[in-house]
Amino acid sequence: MSGTIAITGKGGVGKTTIAGLAVRALIEAGKGPILAVDADPNSCLDVALGVTVLKTIGKIREEAKETAALGMGAGISKQQLIELRIAESLVEREKFDLIAMGRPEGAGCYCFANNVLKDALGRLAANYDTVVLDNEAGLENLSRRIAQDVAVLVLVCDATWNGIETVKRLYELATEMEVSYKKLAVVVNRTKGEELPELAKGLPALFSTPHVIALPLDPQIAEFSESGRTVFELPADNPSLVRLKGFLSMLL
Ligand SMILES: Nc1ncnc2c1ncn2[C@@H]1O[C@H](COP(=O)(O)OP(=O)(O)OP(=O)(O)O)[C@@H](O)[C@H]1O
Ligand SMILES: [Mg+2]
Repeated sequence: MSGTIAITGKGGVGKTTIAGLAVRALIEAGKGPILAVDADPNSCLDVALGVTVLKTIGKIREEAKETAALGMGAGISKQQLIELRIAESLVEREKFDLIAMGRPEGAGCYCFANNVLKDALGRLAANYDTVVLDNEAGLENLSRRIAQDVAVLVLVCDATWNGIETVKRLYELATEMEVSYKKLAVVVNRTKGEELPELAKGLPALFSTPHVIALPLDPQIAEFSESGRTVFELPADNPSLVRLKGFLSMLL
């Protein structure tokens, strides 16, 4: 197994776009089968990948609660029932599968859904070469260790003063929370050119990683997302796809 790539960063910086592109890039680099994990309740990784999620883990949790209230049938435990439903909720494609965390309905926190996802991920991950985790903004999922064994933590940020300051705080927080990973990478997204902006040039030294890249603003990516087209429909020479392929090949 190559490992898990966990993508995080503040809201709207391009996490889902990068997760989708990474799934395609890794498939084309022969790193399949891939498990894509939509760990953001508000996300739409399924749209980027062109699949439809019928059931999320949040939904499964609700159903399991109802079944438990009605009385469990045929000697099956709540945990077993949930595991069964999770296996059913997996969207399977030839080169990748997708699982979505969703939002637990009704009252209650995400803790149970998180724990279930964590357990399920641990077991599922063994069947895949690479896991791509699209996280919600911030470090919530990572601090809860929903993915054990993160091979690459990718911090995504905007190419603005505010964006760079935010990613510095995110790095400090990850360090404080002892989020564990083997390699750290940073994508400064929607830059004006292929060079890192002046503001971001100190990041490799500050974060002790050589893996910091600029991902230029890409009109084709914007247009594809506006029209709801998938990453698999992008032409093979799309500059963002080509750039991410090169970047990921150094990381995994
Ligand atoms: N390099 C890029 N060039 C052009 N547009 C981009 C680029 N990266 C992302 N975008 C666009 O920016 C918008 C936000 O991207 P995306 O949804 O991937 O961010 P996110 O971090 O996942 O957001 P959220 O925190 O809401 O989940 C999308 O419309 C996407 O198409
Ligand atoms: Mg997203």
